[in-house]
Amino acid sequence: MKGIILAGGSGTRLSPSTDSINKHLLAVFDKPMIYYPLSVLMLGGIKEIMIISTPEDKPRFEELLGDGSALGISLQYGEQVKPNGIPEALTLSEQFLGRDAVTLILADNIFYGQGFTTLLRNAIKNHRHATVFGYRVKDASRFGVVEFDHNQKVISLQEKPEDPRSDFAVTGLYIYDNKSVQLAKKLKPSARGELEITDLNKEYLKRGQLDVELLGRGFAWMDAGTHESLFEASEFVKITQQRQGFKLACLEEIAYYLGYISRETLYEKGKSMEKNDYGQYLLEIANRKHTQQYWDSIDRNPMLGLVD
Ligand code: TTP
Repeated sequence: MKGIILAGGSGTRLSPSTDSINKHLLAVFDKPMIYYPLSVLMLGGIKEIMIISTPEDKPRFEELLGDGSALGISLQYGEQVKPNGIPEALTLSEQFLGRDAVTLILADNIFYGQGFTTLLRNAIKNHRHATVFGYRVKDASRFGVVEFDHNQKVISLQEKPEDPRSDFAVTGLYIYDNKSVQLAKKLKPSARGELEITDLNKEYLKRGQLDVELLGRGFAWMDAGTHESLFEASEFVKITQQRQGFKLACLEEIAYYLGYISRETLYEKGKSMEKNDYGQYLLEIANRKHTQQYWDSIDRNPMLGLVD
């Protein structure tokens, strides 16, 4: 299983904040937005990841995250010249994917909740062809909408419908088998001139190969694409972190608990930024006395706030 983070787009709704900086490099409280989707893929156990952005913004992501070795993972970078739509991520990464399946996440999506790691790891382990993640929302007509029966069998998909058939939005996290690349190649742009991810998912639905995982009421799913939602996401992160003392999407912490980096590496990283709260947090973790070496079952580890 490989991972793709799609971090291109034009970010027009966040202008002028995004006029000279890519949306996914803006801070969501105390760290860049892209840390959040990257943390999701890492928690899912994915170690080979491609970050796709615009040709202008690609160097900034490389500067921020490098080749991933500091986190014990492998990062590669791809370019999307124009925001031609989400499915283009799959065709652009054809070589990178080889014959592998892929978990694709949009770089402005934030997921957080108890048991998320287990849910994602199980979805990855058990996935058949295509899996989307449904989340109940108040205003489903703003999203792709998934309808399913009482056995959780997907019945229909609608893109921003006036009259939604369910309250469940399709989030920006998708698991696909390798044929998604060829299916994406065959898609035609919609009326708005983009390849639509809903059209790709409908191809799987037609074949009876689309599954849905539901994120329950204990989950937070946010996209940080508008000034309001970016601010709300920052507030959410701040409040959650402040109450519990755990950071969300702290990549070094995740890498450490997954056994990808040593305590020394964690300590060095913390030391290099000890003047700020993020660095102090890393030092605090590195200095803790652990009774266990690493995780047996990562969701049992309270450090990530993901206790099942
Ligand atoms: P959107 O929020 O639909 O688009 P955007 O980020 O360009 O923002 P705006 O609507 O304000 O202009 O995109 C959702 C996510 O997918 C976002 O993280 C950017 C990413 N994306 C791409 O990287 N390439 C694309 O072609 C599209 C459509 C989206």
